[in-house]
Amino acid sequence: MSRAERKPAGSSTADVVVRQANGNDLAAVEEVGRQTWPATYSSIFEEGLVALFLEKKWSAQALTPSIRSGRTLVAEVAGRIVGMASYGPHDSVLALWKLYVIPEAQGRGVGGRLLREVMSHAVSLGRELHISFTDGNASAYEFARSHGFTILSREPQGEMPDLIWMARPTPGEDGCTQAAVTDG
Ligand SMILES: CC(C)(COP(=O)(O)OP(=O)(O)OC[C@H]1O[C@@H](n2cnc3c(N)ncnc32)[C@H](O)[C@@H]1OP(=O)(O)O)[C@@H](O)C(=O)NCCC(=O)NCCS
Repeated sequence: MSRAERKPAGSSTADVVVRQANGNDLAAVEEVGRQTWPATYSSIFEEGLVALFLEKKWSAQALTPSIRSGRTLVAEVAGRIVGMASYGPHDSVLALWKLYVIPEAQGRGVGGRLLREVMSHAVSLGRELHISFTDGNASAYEFARSHGFTILSREPQGEMPDLIWMARPTPGEDGCTQAAVTDG
């Protein structure tokens, strides 16, 4: 299904609630990964690797520390969790570690709402926000680019596709943007 087909005419983000995740959200956050990872990465990674990453990065054990430390956000529509974001300090910047919206809810502004919330945390911490994604994830690249991010660097991942890092300058107190900080 194309992005245009997923986006119903007149849809708005008014019915999207973005909030900090808590322990009760764990199963729903795991489910966002289970629904989104195969749809996103089956054309980039082989099937076994998608299953392996799901097990490694979307297990209760992997997700709990970020939820406990208040660095996971969820997006709800009509009380159902349809997207999540997690972030944390990375060297001198703030890194967006995960940003996922289930396929059926994509293209309606949910990802944008989650990203804006993380960006506001970056601004309040005075840190630049960096996004990373696997080379070949064209929709992540287009999404980040449409939100003002530009490519910073490419991180080799052995035999797997490179990780692409993008950054968006954080507005300073005077409203001017600060110079980009690279983390290699
Ligand atoms: C990337 C992702 C989080 C975007 O979430 P979303 O809810 O679909 O995005 P939004 O509807 O908020 O899009 C906001 C803007 O980003 C841009 N955009 C988003 N996806 C795009 C795409 N596939 N192609 C082109 N532009 C895109 C558009 O400019 C859009 O503005 P519009 O409403 O005027 O069309 C979501 O598609 C997703 O979960 N993808 C799979 C996981 C992933 O790749 N995560 C890593 C992200 S860094």
